[in-house]
Amino acid sequence: MLTTELLTVRFGGLAALSQVNFSVQRDQIHAIIGPNGAGKSTFFNCLTGVLRPTSGRIVFNGDEITGLPANVISQKGIARSYQITSIMPNATVRENVRIAAQSRRHAWNMISHHSNFADINEKAVTALESVGLLGKADEFAANLSHGEQRNLEIGIALATEPKLLCLDEPTAGMSAAETHDTMQLVRKIRKDLTILIVEHDMQVVMELADRITVLDYGEILAEGTPQEIQKNPKVLEVYLKT
Ligand SMILES: Nc1ncnc2c1ncn2[C@@H]1O[C@H](COP(=O)(O)OP(=O)(O)O)[C@@H](O)[C@H]1O
Ligand SMILES: [Mg+2]
Repeated sequence: MLTTELLTVRFGGLAALSQVNFSVQRDQIHAIIGPNGAGKSTFFNCLTGVLRPTSGRIVFNGDEITGLPANVISQKGIARSYQITSIMPNATVRENVRIAAQSRRHAWNMISHHSNFADINEKAVTALESVGLLGKADEFAANLSHGEQRNLEIGIALATEPKLLCLDEPTAGMSAAETHDTMQLVRKIRKDLTILIVEHDMQVVMELADRITVLDYGEILAEGTPQEIQKNPKVLEVYLKT
């Protein structure tokens, strides 16, 4: 579904990503792990058009998307949730999701298409239902718990009806109970969706992922099933060091 070829990002003298050849298969949950600073968020930034790579190519469903703007990539069907919360706190939960739902296809002509209004509302409701927040639709986002806000971010991403969903540390800062709920949520939404997930909690990764790629200093250190990764000596060395 998505491949990168020799993807490279340099920040001055630092190679945040170095010639990364990566691919994710349709309908899989594919985890990207690695120590802090390994290049995981930079990788997501390239895939979603937040950052233009220094060199290399990104191909999504047969289309080259390298360096395209974020809104174009979103329209092609790649969505993400951010590691740092990006919701609008002073809007309601429903408004947060509605704005995402209309951004995908109706960005510039929504005023002239009143019939889309019901359609957008319906998409918002579906997204809120998927992340278990329909009961809180009319609350201000600021009043949600931290865990609920993180799940709202997933709802915002889902409202754009992506084919590939990129989740950057969705359980960061969550309690054990909230982490468990979010894992359940990811399992529930995986139907008809390919998911790329950056996650620091090894237990979450091992239970959730079909496939794991390990990044270290901007390079792919290892790739395989959770079982293969768990016993890979290079991976163990990196994780024992940190
Ligand atoms: N905008 C930026 N400008 C300069 N350096 C950056 C920038 N973004 C990330 N980096 C650096 O690139 C490396 C990879 O960062 P990042 O992708 O955020 O790692 P991870 O998400 O794996 O923790 C780090 O050394 C980080 O300091
Ligand atoms: Mg990161």
